Amino acid sequence: MVQYGESFIAKGIDFMAKTWITEEFDTPAVLIHRGRLQKNIEKMAEFAQMHGLALRPHIKTHKMIEIAHMQLEAGAIGITTAKIGEAEVMAAHGVRNILIAYPILGEEKLSRLAQLKTVAAVTTVIDGVAQAEALSRYALAHELQFQVLIEVDTGLKRCGVLPGQDTLSLFHQVSGLPGVEVVGIMTHAGHAYGAATPEEVVRIARQEGFDMVENAGLLRSEGLTLHQVSVGATPTVRHSGQITGVTEIRPGNYVFNDLTQIRLGVATEEQCSLRVAARIVSHPAVDRLVMDAGAKTLALDQGAHGTKGVAGFGQVLGHPELTITRLSEEHGVIQVAGPTELRVGDIIEIIPNHSCPIVNLADQVIVVDDNGKKEVWKVAARGRTS
Ligand SMILES: Cc1ncc(COP(=O)(O)O)c(C=O)c1O
Repeated sequence: MVQYGESFIAKGIDFMAKTWITEEFDTPAVLIHRGRLQKNIEKMAEFAQMHGLALRPHIKTHKMIEIAHMQLEAGAIGITTAKIGEAEVMAAHGVRNILIAYPILGEEKLSRLAQLKTVAAVTTVIDGVAQAEALSRYALAHELQFQVLIEVDTGLKRCGVLPGQDTLSLFHQVSGLPGVEVVGIMTHAGHAYGAATPEEVVRIARQEGFDMVENAGLLRSEGLTLHQVSVGATPTVRHSGQITGVTEIRPGNYVFNDLTQIRLGVATEEQCSLRVAARIVSHPAVDRLVMDAGAKTLALDQGAHGTKGVAGFGQVLGHPELTITRLSEEHGVIQVAGPTELRVGDIIEIIPNHSCPIVNLADQVIVVDDNGKKEVWKVAARGRTS
């Protein structure tokens, strides 16, 4: 343990700790290791380039201008968002090609979408006639043309029309609508997060790719010019992206990774670029510690879409005797199995279950590097609910 002021930096803390601890350091804090982040970004960009794929990362993971620009500089052709609000923030900071991978409905959102189209190339998604008709009505009234992708369900059972005849039939129903142009198809195989083994992840990913390519072939046989055949989730892109005919990948979580990706065999601890630093604030029983990172820092998230094998709310580095068993809003309850050297005031470092909601709960993150340089980045698009 290293003594720092009144506190101790717990054993097992990652090397980033050696650089970020200063007198004014406060907890809880979200830390990002710049070198690891850069490496994750570059490796995905290299994969996309090697397989002739357009890379359109989903920025809901980070919501930060700096990281979006790192992705674009590494070769991304544009970004994906879930919210118009995220797209607005990114467009205001120079991002010019955006897929909003979410159905857009309601006059207010349609007018924001129209405004966004004045500064960036924007595509949205539909999976039914109703959304296409709403876009068409607005387009007619305002002399606009909306580009859309048809969202296809390759197994997640969230949004999406089924591949095959259902997609074809939707295409026929919407292709005559004025102001709406179908430019491609997209899917998100998020059900890979519920896979029990790495082999199952690969199987789901390959299915994602094959279903989409077959679907694209069917639409083309009916005369549709399809520009985008877009797939992606961090666990699947490295496999679905290799199926000939897939043109685009949209990973999001890969910039940070997390315990969920480790559990799925998709990332290593070394590739996790985001950590939460917390302080032990109470030791009320021999077998119980309490830290200052609760649900409002770590999120009550145990992974997306039925992730399996999750015990607790993150892994405390270097302390296998600890399990984060409960989170109330500002308290994190840690169960101690056997002896621990941790004391009140000590700082610990946590790899979270799911990095995406953590960033959305933070106003800012502390970006560290191996040379002791520290920067603060704002989570510019945080909390955008529309
Ligand atoms: C439509 C869509 N595309 C891409 C992604 C990125 O997935 P991941 O974060 O697993 O990389 C998501 C994640 O929620 C998504 O919903």
